[in-house]
Amino acid sequence: MTTAGSAPRRGGFSEDGSAEIVLESFAHTPDPRLKRLMTSFVEHLHAFVKDVEPTEEEWEQAIGFLTEVGHMCDATRQEFVLLSDVLGVSALVDAINHRNPAAATDSTVLGPFHMVESPRRELGSDISLDHNGEPCVFAGQVRSFDGTPLPGARVDVWQANGAGFYDVQQPDVQPERNLRGLFAADDHGRFWLRTVVPRHYPIPDDGPVGRLLDATGRHPNRPAHIHVIAEADGHTPLTTHVFVEGSPYLDSDAVFGVKRSLIRPVTVIDDPLRADHYDVSNPFKLIEFDIVLAPVTERA
Ligand SMILES: [Fe+2]
Repeated sequence: MTTAGSAPRRGGFSEDGSAEIVLESFAHTPDPRLKRLMTSFVEHLHAFVKDVEPTEEEWEQAIGFLTEVGHMCDATRQEFVLLSDVLGVSALVDAINHRNPAAATDSTVLGPFHMVESPRRELGSDISLDHNGEPCVFAGQVRSFDGTPLPGARVDVWQANGAGFYDVQQPDVQPERNLRGLFAADDHGRFWLRTVVPRHYPIPDDGPVGRLLDATGRHPNRPAHIHVIAEADGHTPLTTHVFVEGSPYLDSDAVFGVKRSLIRPVTVIDDPLRADHYDVSNPFKLIEFDIVLAPVTERA
């Protein structure tokens, strides 16, 4: 990292000893965690700058880019989160913080569209208020590790419609709280609701992050998915997605949220009794997603 034996303070600033000189200035940081964060950040940042040796114009451009990212942020647009997403940092932070045992359902990123509370709805409700998309049933069971159903588990669901937009993106087009619902599982841990098959969609790409994707030959799209947060007493809450099998972009999600274990097919069910149970006409489309939560004590 730095030249061994250099004495940066006495000789003033030097290219070789740059990181050490800056690290000395943080030596008396009282909070040990802050000290650890700043130490590692300075070491990596200086190594990065030495690696790429930016021109002054490039460094100005980098500062200008970050400034623009900040200016793009407001109450409904978080460009820094988008930047973190497309760099895979959101997915990495999620992975580091949710090292659940293998038997638990995988987590993935929260995403930027859970900005309003989901309304409580009865099991079986239709959350598609605009009926934009192919009708389907979304159903599953919430269980603990050992297979025990978790009665009353809370299942929070939100998704884009059949055109690939969330309600908050189209306040003048979609009804408020369209395609959102908070459900309580039944006595057997089961949940079911009526919705539409979500469509893949681009993350907002009309800002600096979109330009970055464009300049690097990347697309801004995410594969079709339904967001889920599942919670049950005594268990670690789970934030995840169900991805629609066969959707475009499953292999190139712009925010790196896809895990193979979370992909489910949309199946066509021809069963009058089940159609009756879900209050839909037969045959019907179904996405099934069972959820296994990790007991708090067994979290890795
Ligand atoms: Fe999403």
